Parts: sequence; structure tokens; C-alpha cells
Amino acid sequence: MDAYERVMELAKRRGFIWGSLELYGGVAGLYDYGPLGCTLKHNIENMWRRVYCTEEGFYEIETSTIGLEEVFSASGHLSCFTDPMTTCSACGESFRADHLLNGVVERPDALSSDELGRLLVHHAIRCPACGCALSDVEEFNLMFETHIGPGRGRIGYLRPETAQGIFTNFDRLYRFFREKLPFGVVQIGRSFRNEISPRQGVIRLREFSQAELELFVLPDQKTHPNFERFAELSLPLYSQQAQERGEVETMTLGEAVERGVIASELLAYHIGLCWTFLTRIGLDASRIRFRQHLPDEMAHYAADCWDAEVLLERFGWVEVVGIADRTNYDLSAHERESGKQLRVFVEYETPRRRRVVEVVPDMSQLGPMLRERAGAAAEVLSSLTPEQVKEAEKEGMLRIEVEGEMLELPPSVVSIREREEEVRGEYVTPHVIEPSYGIDRIVYALLEHSLYEEEVEGEKRTVLRLSPQLAPIPMAVLPLMDKPPLVEVARSITKRLRSVGMRCEYDEGGFIGRRYRRFDEVGTPFCITVDYESLEDGTVTIRERDSMRQIRVPHRKLEHVMHNLVLGIWQFDEVVEELGEGSA
Ligand code: GLY
Repeated sequence: MDAYERVMELAKRRGFIWGSLELYGGVAGLYDYGPLGCTLKHNIENMWRRVYCTEEGFYEIETSTIGLEEVFSASGHLSCFTDPMTTCSACGESFRADHLLNGVVERPDALSSDELGRLLVHHAIRCPACGCALSDVEEFNLMFETHIGPGRGRIGYLRPETAQGIFTNFDRLYRFFREKLPFGVVQIGRSFRNEISPRQGVIRLREFSQAELELFVLPDQKTHPNFERFAELSLPLYSQQAQERGEVETMTLGEAVERGVIASELLAYHIGLCWTFLTRIGLDASRIRFRQHLPDEMAHYAADCWDAEVLLERFGWVEVVGIADRTNYDLSAHERESGKQLRVFVEYETPRRRRVVEVVPDMSQLGPMLRERAGAAAEVLSSLTPEQVKEAEKEGMLRIEVEGEMLELPPSVVSIREREEEVRGEYVTPHVIEPSYGIDRIVYALLEHSLYEEEVEGEKRTVLRLSPQLAPIPMAVLPLMDKPPLVEVARSITKRLRSVGMRCEYDEGGFIGRRYRRFDEVGTPFCITVDYESLEDGTVTIRERDSMRQIRVPHRKLEHVMHNLVLGIWQFDEVVEELGEGSA
């Protein structure tokens, strides 16, 4: 079994993840979270909230998962969010054309549909399912189309990213943030992509969870006020140049910005923050790197993008986060499509003076000449450029259209006036930096990076090394044996721990060693055991999963001890010391 099979076997058996709709044969690209997987995922999302909302101060919103056609016409998803598809003429199965050429040509993902079609023919690639001929390559749009309302209704699409819900709310959000930049808004939720033929299990999903931050900044913001926090952080960076050379470079983020490897402090700060999150949840730091997109793989909206990639045994380096510079692409596009201004007024530090040349109509001539049409004519005349007026002067005649009628007027009805005016600021379209996390891939990667097996006293022990803050069952209470009064004491401890908000399992069945193994396998970091000594002196043991060490603590102090252990305030080694002499 490879790592993927080991993880998925455990995931299915112990209620983390399984295929959706298995009752009806299942559907590729759709997976469900079982009781432990769902809790683990929520714990990861809550840790993400802690990093981005609590610590960084960004706010979360929740927007509809269905978007209108106009939204995705503006965002470019209708025209650009496609994958190249070829279909078997005999069995009807469809495939990603570029995937069929993996290992046959270099970088098939960078080729056009026409090029892919020619190469499929040239290399005599046939249907992998039945061996028959394949069709021409067409671009297949990955969005799920739907209709809003009865009948055909309005055309809508399930969102392919949560980001658009933030962009389409920009004007309200800007007011919420008191019309000041920068501000950041996050969203965690489901997105949908109708992948052509997903074959990578939980790695390529048709419905998945994203956690995205859209950080709106002034167009020229390159710095970050807290960049110092990460300036000395050394990370493996695989820039475009490094990819040409084929070697990852490890350097501090400070050096990366100084050498222009990362375009700005702002982008580098978010790479550092991403690293903080990924390592804090427990991904293996030696299996994480940051890779810059090559120019021909960038999404249609991005000017620059760095992926956080994690190393997985079966799949190699896999993207789990994309940190993109989306420039003003989205807000400009929605401004054009909706006709509503999505710019912000930015005041200069000190007002600037500007020379204005304008065309001024002479009402004393226009009034008697045009009477009731004079006002409309004046409006048209003021919109002329000085060049147009000079041209008219040369011709001796000024022609303008007023209320549908062409008028010929003497050039003297206007004059050109120059003046200086004070300008307080200007309207600009904010730029966006977007860290976008694929939560499901992170859940899987965490399971793979956490799972290990070892031999203990001649038996295999399987352990999920999940941190206490993320483990779906952070603690379990076990009576040594299924006998009174051990059982009563253990039950009452469970009740007490639950009553102060701790998730706590109670398990009385079977040998104690077997029960420890069951909890090791689902990542429970602490097992509290009630034994005969507990009845005599009021202490219980706490067993730590990874070291299998046990300490004795008074059970009346358990709420306090477990609170500190689960939140990571105390390490296991510190408990006895923290409780002090004579704590028993
Ligand atoms: N918002 C970025 C993405 O969905 O890929």
C-alpha cells in the first residue's frame, strides 16, 4: 500500500473521509466528510480564522454560492475558465487532452487546444479506456450552469471561487471599513468545478472548500507594516528563474525581496503568513515549498502568483494554496460590466495644482442665436477639446449636433481659457492580493504527513500525530476496566470535562492497550485513565499519544490541566511542574 491507500483506508474505516453517494455507485471528484473528518476540517478552518481573522484582523463574510452569468462574464470565468477536452468516438468517455500528453511532450498544460489536438494525432494517442480514436480538442468550461427560478429563469453558475462574492460586495465593504485602504475580507466556503475526468481521488474535487482572503490595497502599496516579523524567515523558494535552473533556493524573505525574487514585501508577508498557518496546523515543514507560477500557467486574472506546495508520496508536489497578485483586474471588470463605479477617492498628502485648458461657451451670443436650445448647445460646446475648436477656427465654422440636429455656428461662440486649479486627490481602482487555500487538500495532506506506524512490543502501532488543537477527539476518558466504581468515576469526569466545553470521548470496552491503540489511530493526543489508585488517592493518569508516557494528576484539577494541554499553553512535560509540589 502506498501512503494514499494507507491514509484513505484509515480515513474510510475510522470516519474521516469517504466517497460521496457510494450507495449509488459513487461519483468521481465528490467526497464526504464523516464524523471525525468533519470535525478535523472545522478545526483546521477555525485555526485559519484564528490566523487571518483574530491575529491579522480581517473580517469574514458569507456570500451566495450561486452567481449570475454577468458576474462570471465580468470575471472572465465564462470565457477563460476552461480545460482542453477530447472525447472517445466509441465509448464516449472524455479526458483532459493535456493529461493524455503528460510524459509525452514537455509542459502540455501550456499548449493551446489546436496544438494539443495535433500532438494527440502525431503521437497516435488513443482512448485510454477502450483504445478507439479520440475527437478534436475543445475547450470545456468548468463551471456548473444552473437556472435561477422556474422555467429557464435567469442563468446562474455555482461559484468556481469564493472570491467573486467579495468583489461584488466591494462598495458595501469599502463603506464598512470607513472608506480606508488597505482592508481585507475573508470567506470560507464551498466552490464548484466540473472537472473533466478527476482521477486523483481527494486531490481533485468537483465540489471543494476554499478559504480565501481578498486584501484590497492602493495600487502602489508594496510594503507591509509588519514585514519585520518574517524578514528573517528562511523558506524554500522555487521562483521562475530557479525553475529554469531546476533547483529550489532557500533564503530569507528579506533577502528574497531585496534580490527581487519576490516582487514586494506585501507578497512576501503573505507567503510568510501562509507558512505560519501550514506549519502551525502540523504539516511537515520539510515537505512544503513555495513555487512561483510560470508566465504561461498564470490564471487569467493574475499578474504574479506563488503556490504553497506540499509533497505527497503518490502525487509529488501538490498546490494547496495560491497567493496571487490579482491587480485591479476584478474590480475594473465588475465596474465595466455593472456600470457602477468601484473606484475609491485617494487624497494626496498635499493638494496638487493642475493647469486646466477648457472650452467656454459665450452665452451672450448663444442666447439670442439659439434661444431655448442655447443651454443644450452650451453643454455640447463645453465638451469640445481645444484642438477641435482650433480646427473649427481654421475652417471658419463650428459644427455640432444638438438634440439630433446639426448646427453651424461661428467659432467666436466659444473661447479657450486656461486656469490653474487645486486637486485634492484622484479616483483609483484598488489592487488585490489574494491568498487562496484549498482546505480539502490541506486536510488530506495533514492526514498523510501525520500518519505513521511503528512497532511497539512486537505489535504495529498506527498513530495520527495531530496537534491537540486540531485532533477531532482531543481527549478520552477510560476506566481501566469495565467495572464499578471505576466506571462511575470515569463517567463523572467525562461529564465534568464536557460541561466546561471540552470534547471528550468515554470508552469502557475492551483491553486498555487496545483502547489506547484505537485513540492513537484517530489522533487523540491524551487519554485519561481511571484505575484503582484513582479510587484511593483521587488521581488519574494522563497518557500522551506520541511518547506513550503517563503522568498522574489529581482529577479535581483535570479541567485546568486539560484546558492548558489542549490549547497548547502547556507541553505535556510541563504539567507536573506547573501543578507544583504536592499537587496530588
Ligand atoms: N480564487 C483563486 C482560485 O479559486 O483559484
